[in-house]
Amino acid sequence: MPEKRLEKILLGRTEIEQKIVELGSQISKDYEGKELLLICVLKGAVIFLADLMRHLTVPAEIDFMAVSSYGASTESSGVVRILKDLDCSIENKHCLIVEDIIDSGLTLKYLEENLLSRHPASIKIVALLDKPERRKVAIQPDYCGFKIPDEFVVGYGLDFSEQYRGLPDLCVLA
Ligand code: PRP
Repeated sequence: MPEKRLEKILLGRTEIEQKIVELGSQISKDYEGKELLLICVLKGAVIFLADLMRHLTVPAEIDFMAVSSYGASTESSGVVRILKDLDCSIENKHCLIVEDIIDSGLTLKYLEENLLSRHPASIKIVALLDKPERRKVAIQPDYCGFKIPDEFVVGYGLDFSEQYRGLPDLCVLA
């Protein structure tokens, strides 16, 4: 078990839930009449995906990708490796990448370019959390839940050494 302790709740479960209702409503409006493919980036985004898709009124399929930055550093290197690719072709599909957090932006930059080369009908990004201060490459989510300060957050899918993902609230580690 990690030794670090939780310092405080940054975003409570009710606040997160309310924001996801808003995001679901906006996304449903924007994609009205279309079918959507939600591309969940493992692992952190699984909780967000599960909650978001239950607030969509447009038909939505889901698929999963797992990626990893090369190197042991906790900082993204920008070189991304696909650990698990999508099961299906995205050609001519309206794709929405579902991320828990954008930090340097390197993962999403790579993912977006990679997926664009597969000729989707469109690609957009929804991120629950954004740390704009940490950005290294120019990339913005089309839909963003919360902009947060540069603190180490866990819970609601996010981990520290694979722990804490199941916390219902988003917390700051001490
Ligand atoms: C997190 C997050 C993004 C990425 C963002 O994943 O889910 O995929 O880091 O960082 P970046 O903007 O600096 O590229 P992580 O590598 O922690 O994997 P996990 O979701 O499996 O915990």
